[in-house]
Amino acid sequence: MKKVYLETYGCQMNVSDSERVSTVLARDGFEMTEDQDSADVVIINTCSVREKAEQKLYTQVGRIRHSAGQKPVVGVMGCIAQLEGDTLFEKINGVDFVLGTRAVGRVSNAVDAALSGYSGYSDVGEREDGYDWTVADTHRHSPYVAFLPIIEGCNKFCTYCIVPFSRGRERSLPAAEIVRQVNELREGGVSEVHLIGQNVNSYRPNTNAGLEGFEGKSSFSKLLRAVAATGIERIKFTTSFPRDFCDDIVDAIEQNENLCNWVHLPVQSGSDRVLRLMKRGHTIDKYKSKIDRIKSSTRDISLTTDIIVGFPGETEADFLDTIDLFEYCEFDSAYIFKYSPRPGTPAFDMHDTVSSAEKTLRFLELEKVQKRIRESRIQRYLKRTLKVLVEGRSSRTADGLTGHSTCHKVVNFRGPESVLGQIVDVQITELKTNSLFGEVYL
Ligand code: SAH
Ligand code: SF4
Ligand code: F3S
Repeated sequence: MKKVYLETYGCQMNVSDSERVSTVLARDGFEMTEDQDSADVVIINTCSVREKAEQKLYTQVGRIRHSAGQKPVVGVMGCIAQLEGDTLFEKINGVDFVLGTRAVGRVSNAVDAALSGYSGYSDVGEREDGYDWTVADTHRHSPYVAFLPIIEGCNKFCTYCIVPFSRGRERSLPAAEIVRQVNELREGGVSEVHLIGQNVNSYRPNTNAGLEGFEGKSSFSKLLRAVAATGIERIKFTTSFPRDFCDDIVDAIEQNENLCNWVHLPVQSGSDRVLRLMKRGHTIDKYKSKIDRIKSSTRDISLTTDIIVGFPGETEADFLDTIDLFEYCEFDSAYIFKYSPRPGTPAFDMHDTVSSAEKTLRFLELEKVQKRIRESRIQRYLKRTLKVLVEGRSSRTADGLTGHSTCHKVVNFRGPESVLGQIVDVQITELKTNSLFGEVYL
């Protein structure tokens, strides 16, 4: 049996693709291994969203080339594979096959070709009819949590972003199939599903099948209610696109206990002028009104965002607008990124007026502001009892367990292994930088 080691970078969509690739390879007679050194095949599932993410591929292939002993064959999949296609063979020495984001169903052909000595197999074609979106239980990143793509691709073309080029146009999966999978997962012991997609709330399937009888102002809010009706214990969804975020999503959360207390709504900038340059399709006023609705909810919804500092032409005044917005929204957490020019995107050709040093200063300043906000927001959890899905052991102590709350915070506590996979009550006793610590009630 040939052994395959699969390394995954990037977003949840890549994690999900890797789970399906492992499922297919195991079905076709390969053994998936955690040990890179003994692998016959190394596949790298790549991300292209920022230069740093892209760099990881080069480092990793270099490491394999210079390692001692038997050299594995090397395959590249994911977003860099899709964008580069054949040119990757010229750019990096030591790559044997290239598999695009929608060619993952044909991974076994690529591996077979490489193992038989052919170095140059490339497939960046479309998905085959009847592509199987299911993941075998043993190949999920967690036995208790499942990622379920509901929409792939992106039609938004924000000017800085490579994703529409690497992931293609938006395509929604049929609701009836999503509901079928959720039921199957629930029956198989999964407690939490994450409905994933670049923009989940742009969900627009070709047919209404599976959504009949469910209320909602959009197909997405209908889908949320349909998935909630399966009775699965917890449902999370990410990422939401601000322009398509209607209040009805918050209504659905309020009406269904199993829709979790978490919304990830990337704003990208606090300045209307920069948002226009980014072509985000929302204004700060509109964004704030969505935040107001989330904050006024009867549920304590945790709110997270993504933000880019140093977009071409971002002035000090624009940056101060971003700080103001952070003070207004009081995000529970924020992923802050320095703008990274991506070849092929419209922003790549805009004059990059923000120096690297200035980007770093803005990054650090915003991080400081957000740290203060997070520390104040997190206080509300102290002494409160949160429902935690126990996902695994935490490395720190022998009886340490870890999981996530409904508000998607990492919660650590001490307890018996027998509660793994269960949802337990944990009273929060300590607030840490990136997690909460508490005592379990059994
Ligand atoms: N579809 C999601 C985001 C997908 S990419 C959305 O629209 O919000 C994840 C995050 O990477 C983005 O939210 C953005 O903050 C960041 N990002 C994307 N392109 C980037 C670039 N060129 N430079 C820096 N950050 C970038
Ligand atoms: Fe990129 Fe914009 Fe699409 Fe998000 S919505 S993936 S930021 S183009
Ligand atoms: Fe990266 Fe592709 Fe996801 S560029 S963020 S892996 S869609």
